[in-house]
Amino acid sequence: MHASEWTQDDLPAHVPPELVEPFDLWGDEIQTDMFGALERLQQRVLDKGGIVYNPYLKIWWAGGLDLVREIYQRHDLFSSRSLAGGITEPGTPDLSSVLPFKLIPVVLDAPDHEHYKRLLTPLFSTKVMDDNHQFLVDTVVTSIDDFADQGQTDIVLSLAERVPALAFTRMFGLPAERGPEYVEWNHDLFRGADPVRGEAAGKIIGALSELVERCLRDPQDDLMSAVVNSTVQGEPIDPSDALGIGFLLWMASLDTTTAHLSFQFWHMATHQDDQQRVRDDPALIPGAVEECLRMYGTVNNGRVVAEDTEFHGVRMLAGERIGWASSAVGRDHAVFPNADVLDPERTVNRHLAFGAGPHRCLGLHLARRMLTVTMEEMHRRLPPYRITEGMQARPHAGLALGFDSIPLSWDAGVAGSR
Ligand code: HEM
Repeated sequence: MHASEWTQDDLPAHVPPELVEPFDLWGDEIQTDMFGALERLQQRVLDKGGIVYNPYLKIWWAGGLDLVREIYQRHDLFSSRSLAGGITEPGTPDLSSVLPFKLIPVVLDAPDHEHYKRLLTPLFSTKVMDDNHQFLVDTVVTSIDDFADQGQTDIVLSLAERVPALAFTRMFGLPAERGPEYVEWNHDLFRGADPVRGEAAGKIIGALSELVERCLRDPQDDLMSAVVNSTVQGEPIDPSDALGIGFLLWMASLDTTTAHLSFQFWHMATHQDDQQRVRDDPALIPGAVEECLRMYGTVNNGRVVAEDTEFHGVRMLAGERIGWASSAVGRDHAVFPNADVLDPERTVNRHLAFGAGPHRCLGLHLARRMLTVTMEEMHRRLPPYRITEGMQARPHAGLALGFDSIPLSWDAGVAGSR
């Protein structure tokens, strides 16, 4: 069925007709112009007061930074019990409903959520990131040096997928040489059709089950050994909960950082002035990273309505779903002056790329560090780069936005700008 082909039967009786706004998160418009399509959708949502109902995907949809922040914070009204509020492509089951364990902590509500968040937070502190900083720099430098002399590369494959995979295998205590295989499984999990998607989940569960056993038998100085041998409310953690944490971290860390690394280099390749600006003044790089997070949030997220409620004048029933696009709320023109312009000197940047409230991203220090180091080294080691003539970047949309391919070229043999 196409988004425009919904019928009155798809519309719950309590939804006012003026709030109806059908759209398809997996449709042609978003596949070809993902950020533009989501921003235009947000404008239609704001024109209708900030919340609309989509009878095609059977979800409420919210627009505007402040309203979405409020949803993140009102966990009493909006439950996290399904991943991304259970928003899935029509005909595809919600992943969190088919896995044999809970995706901890992201699908837990208070008070359970707090017990696990307390356990995990110290494992992602800035101190832990500092300890891993040199590894990250070395990984990025080696990866760039592998292709710098070639004058061209697909930056998604050679850098944006590679760096998170190497950071992830080290953090987990998994063999680095299997990184590309893990990335492949993650691709299939997020974007494969069944049965490929189910098989990918099975492979990840297999690898993590072996890891959990190894961490129990022979704990090392790595994240999963710390999780597997921890206690929750005074009791040893259940191995199936440790598996759920491992699976979530696997999903949460690889695809998101790959997407944001890709957005950065796609932006700089298609906005030569911005690229030149960070080359000329590297001190602007942290601000540029933050702007890419604001403008290109990869996650289309959501929640489940916890109880019948009236929220901003809209009646919603328990069990209904509500979603939003991080990239669109990061371009809320009422909050961000020149919202479509990357301004590394923007002083107030309250974007929601990492979420907000109790479930705010645990990996944000690691992600920021990875994005910043990679942008620094890329401009230090490579001369100005552009999208390869006659070729195009290939995006993917859906619940997580990203690129499958970005062909870049530069004049080989010319040194980087610093
Ligand atoms: C640029 C990269 C990243 C982005 C854009 C991102 C985005 C997000 C967002 C939007 C949430 C909130 C989910 C919700 O409220 O429903 C989240 C949660 C989470 N993220 Fe990230 N993330 C990134 C990188 C990472 C990395 C590298 C890790 C781990 C190594 C990670 C681990 C987590 C975890 C464990 C949660 C759940 C926190 C909770 O439920 O309390 N993320 N992330």
